[in-house]
Amino acid sequence: MNSFGRLFRVTIFGESHGKGVGISVDGCPGGVPLSEADFSADIERRRAGKPGTTPRAEKDIPNIMNGVFEGTTTGAPIMIQFYNADTDPSSYDNIRNTPRPGHSDYAAYRKHGGYNDYRGGGHFSGRITVGIVAAGVVARKLLGDMKITAQVLEAGGEKDAVAAAVAAQREMVPVGALVEVRVEGVPAGLGEPFFDSVEAVLSHLMFSVPGVKGIEFGTGFACAKMRGSQFNDPFVHIDGTTRTNHSGGINGGITNGNPIVFRVAVRPTSSIGMVQDTVNLKTGEPDVLEVRGRHDACIGLRFPPILESMTAIGLADLLAMSRATNATTQKPR
Ligand SMILES: Cc1cc2nc3c(=O)[nH]c(=O)nc-3n(C[C@H](O)[C@H](O)[C@H](O)COP(=O)(O)O)c2cc1C
Repeated sequence: MNSFGRLFRVTIFGESHGKGVGISVDGCPGGVPLSEADFSADIERRRAGKPGTTPRAEKDIPNIMNGVFEGTTTGAPIMIQFYNADTDPSSYDNIRNTPRPGHSDYAAYRKHGGYNDYRGGGHFSGRITVGIVAAGVVARKLLGDMKITAQVLEAGGEKDAVAAAVAAQREMVPVGALVEVRVEGVPAGLGEPFFDSVEAVLSHLMFSVPGVKGIEFGTGFACAKMRGSQFNDPFVHIDGTTRTNHSGGINGGITNGNPIVFRVAVRPTSSIGMVQDTVNLKTGEPDVLEVRGRHDACIGLRFPPILESMTAIGLADLLAMSRATNATTQKPR
């Protein structure tokens, strides 16, 4: 559904070519300083228009509609809305009946009986992730000393991600990317196994971002080739610090006090600049499609603030749950 979180809960709404997009945040305590200016830095980092990204130029001005009074949160739901201005629905006329291979067009058409807003991918567009970034700004304010950073490790298999994205834009064939997220200063004891293990919560959030196709924590899939003597992280301090961090800061679904580390695989977008085989939804016959519109050549370049925000949302919820169950405030006996 479009809501996530048990105690820190976000609800996302909007479409690429509708009037606007946004998010509502419930569970933020009152008394947290919050203003529109707080969103600028992260929204700027997510913004399109840089090399390798779509030329669609949205102003992305956040409007705090509710939940803030005299500069601080009130404890009521906070709704942050962004208007869409730079829309061009005519470029998407052709995908109405000839869906883009690999995009959400066909699946959404089947799920919603053809009533889905196909313009720019509608609710499946990366456009709505600006709301995620806004909620992330609120979430980060609740995380104390935790510091979340994400960086693009490679794009299209190349270490120079920007050069790879620029080449992809020139050739009109998008490339995928690998993005690493790290959280420093994580207290031990966060996580609510069985079903709300830290990996489960973060993976749920990461896979909610359009275009994410894989995630691995710590050493990740490489662990399948390792021996236990190589994989185990030896303890070096009573605070839980370990010499290595193959587990990515999580054991038993609970943070162990070491940095949380995970990597996310981002696909190349489906909107490629060549004629593709598709099917015509009106005639039922094979057809061809030439994608128009403005697209990102490497969406991965825009992912760091989005993934950081998703991580912040998950950790804010886990922190609230942990306080509710008293788990991290208990001294070991
Ligand atoms: C910030 C962002 C920007 C995106 N830009 C585009 C784009 O320009 N063109 C495109 O085809 N897909 C784009 N996507 C990806 C699609 O939204 C996504 O591939 C589609 O919804 C299908 O979902 P899936 O890839 O998770 O299966 C973008 C995603 C994000 C998060």
